Amino acid sequence: MKILVIGSGGREHALAWKLSQSKRVQSVFVAPGNGGTARDKNLINLPITDIVQLREWAQKEQIALTVVGPEAPLAEGVVDEFRAHHLRIFGPTREAAQLESSKAFSKAFMVRHSIPTARYESFTDVRAAHEYVKNQGAPIVVKADGLAAGKGVVVAMNLKEAHDAIDYMLSGEGTGVQHNGQARVVIEEFLEGEEASFIVVSDGINNVALATCQDHKRLKDNDQGPNTGGMGAYSPAPVVTPQIHAKTMREIIVPTLKGMAKDGIPYSGFLYAGLMITKTGEIKCLEFNCRLGDPETQPIMMRLKTDLVEVLMSATQSQLNAKTSSGTTEVASVWPRLDVLELDWDRRPALGVVMAAAGYPQSPRKGDVINGLPPDREDVMVFHAGTSKEGLDFKTTGGRVLCVTALGGTLKMAQQLAYVAIDEIHFEGAQYRRDIGFRALQGARV
Ligand code: AMP
Ligand code: GLY
Repeated sequence: MKILVIGSGGREHALAWKLSQSKRVQSVFVAPGNGGTARDKNLINLPITDIVQLREWAQKEQIALTVVGPEAPLAEGVVDEFRAHHLRIFGPTREAAQLESSKAFSKAFMVRHSIPTARYESFTDVRAAHEYVKNQGAPIVVKADGLAAGKGVVVAMNLKEAHDAIDYMLSGEGTGVQHNGQARVVIEEFLEGEEASFIVVSDGINNVALATCQDHKRLKDNDQGPNTGGMGAYSPAPVVTPQIHAKTMREIIVPTLKGMAKDGIPYSGFLYAGLMITKTGEIKCLEFNCRLGDPETQPIMMRLKTDLVEVLMSATQSQLNAKTSSGTTEVASVWPRLDVLELDWDRRPALGVVMAAAGYPQSPRKGDVINGLPPDREDVMVFHAGTSKEGLDFKTTGGRVLCVTALGGTLKMAQQLAYVAIDEIHFEGAQYRRDIGFRALQGARV
């Protein structure tokens, strides 16, 4: 079968790499892809980003399964477009993707369904927002309502930062994030604890959890510097003990999937809950993402032994079963049900270190030549993100450039392998952290 992956980041490189290992797969296309997917002989880049054009192309090529990487096409309705033309696609509909694309939607949803989350209020009025912050005091968290490419959250340690964030996010010139024509912010209680990324595959009713993971959001060592999309990640995350895992399923994942179904918006796709695990073992959901994490996907895919095509075909089955009643003749039940699938994981931990461009995250520089890229190995993979292949050269195209990911007998060994590879890779002004994995390695527990 032919498979299409939509996106161009490190997450999509890792997804496409994993999907292409399936025996059932003839070719994997990546739209638009990057330098790394161009280099991989099992992957084919497709220079299309428009949703309707992608759908037309998928029909023409008889694509058996489409997998969506980033949030933007989901929020734009790529799943609705494909499904309307009876194409199999894995991801939430535009309406369901609001769990990520609108903080106000997801917060109201969590409160309505008693899913533990930080206390909050949402505002469109600047004066009321300032007043609220004044009464609550700092630290406090200000979030733009809408997709803001990782720039929509300010964890304000003092009142000035909070007031500035409100002005920035609610003014026309701010992040430019608007929801239904109006800028809106969610202001919420500051929570302390350890974060983890908890990701499941859902078919709308059933779900299966992926391996646990933690990422590092700050640019610099010791969690200093500005927030980024993520500077590195590792799996498993020791903070997610079997007890925390079970509690997360019981208190967050299952009520979310049930709640969405009850609200008439069944959620199928990857569901990512950003967790805050407090000292007392309480778990709060900081946010939902309607996709896999980046860079979490890179170590998770290196550890996944089960055929991902089988998992995602199973997960899209109910979608097609539902269609059967309205006239489609597809017999979907050749795939196992999602709830009986057991995912098999490499016991070795995996760790990925992001190498970012000079100037990231504010103004990443582009066009630097990348040297010293190693060949792919079973235990060391360099997943590309902001790269392009020009002849035999690779150049940076901005933001996060590479994620050097390794499997090791222990997390420490995975970390060493990743940094040995990084020491050989060079591009002007490369920024990366030297301490990815430190929480797990210090045995940090909350
Ligand atoms: P979000 O996009 O909502 O996950 O926020 C991005 C990052 O901001 C999170 O990964 C946390 O590090 C931080 N953050 C978000 N909400 C809170 C909160 N209520 N308390 C403390 N930190 C938070
Ligand atoms: N690494 C965090 C995210 O993908 O949202």
